Amino acid sequence: MPLPAKVRIVDVGPRDGLQNEPATVPTATKIELVNRLADAGLPAVEAGAFVSPKWVPQMADSAAVLKGIRRKPGVSYPVLVPNLQGFEAAVAAGVEEIAIFGAASETFSRKNINCSIAESLARFAPVAEAARAQGMRVRGYISCVVGCPYEGAIAPAAVAAVAKALDAMGCYELSLGDTIGVGTPGKVRAMIEAVARTVPVARLAVHLHDTYGQALANLYAALELGVATADSSVAGLGGCPYAKGASGNVATEDVVYMLDGLGIETGVDLGQVFEAGRFICAALGREPTSKVARALAAQRAT
Ligand code: HMG
Ligand code: MG
Repeated sequence: MPLPAKVRIVDVGPRDGLQNEPATVPTATKIELVNRLADAGLPAVEAGAFVSPKWVPQMADSAAVLKGIRRKPGVSYPVLVPNLQGFEAAVAAGVEEIAIFGAASETFSRKNINCSIAESLARFAPVAEAARAQGMRVRGYISCVVGCPYEGAIAPAAVAAVAKALDAMGCYELSLGDTIGVGTPGKVRAMIEAVARTVPVARLAVHLHDTYGQALANLYAALELGVATADSSVAGLGGCPYAKGASGNVATEDVVYMLDGLGIETGVDLGQVFEAGRFICAALGREPTSKVARALAAQRAT
């Protein structure tokens, strides 16, 4: 299959990135980050999570973030919602798109959202129904699609089963998360092929973490199968609080650089994403993990 002509990039840095940073990031800084990413041309910026603040304190100010951002026409600002309580809070904050998040691993499901996979699906169904009744778009995540920090390798059939259930709830897209970044292209390909037997590939996204440096290779394998949506995180921020040792998502700068080189349209301006990454890294007092960001910074310094 030819590579897609266009790829939609979902920047999950303000959520997946910042949820795992030890430093407390002021709400105003989060708002500016989201606005900068939208201005850089990202068509979707995941702006927060309406989860328990006891579980993930870094996302406790998500309502204030959602109220403070400038909503750029044409840009979506999804948020994570684990249950009806989170859904109601998201509605009150003016959210227009939510993401429900399940897992293909039983143990990860318990550690992340304190229930089994079956219980999580039963909890998501009324959330998805309520959202769709209000005309909200619902995205579905599946974590640990290749491997789990507690259970090891995950069978593609386990991912396909959860995908089928989330698809039946009306999710417009399923984001397949290699939460701990253990995938390699052959394994990612087999997993996507298994899911695509149930959900058309046009409605699949990949959510790759770069722990073992395989994320771009895995993205390329997904593109070859026709996947045309990729999650990434500005500056490569992030990890997962319930997946020890997992590094951040593949960096948006790295994804844009590769897609630009392939002649694939994203609508994202690399220079502006780089600047957004410098902004948040300065606020966090850390360096970007993005190789492209490091190369651009070195080039500017000479
Ligand atoms: P629980 O403790 O089983 O829930 O947590 P509960 O219903 O028994 O409620 C306990 C307390 O939490 C109560 O407060 C509730 O009010 C409160 P208390 O009476 O003790 O004061 N509560 C809430 N507060 C705010 N918003 C809510 C909410 N729900 C309950 N929505 C729960 C279950 C799902 C809530 C919890 O486990 C949770 O919030 N988990 C979220 C964990 C999380 O955000 N993980 C990171 C995101 S997933 C990820 O990163 C992977 C992904 O990126 C893809 C990939 O990389 O593969 C998406
Ligand atoms: Mg993630």
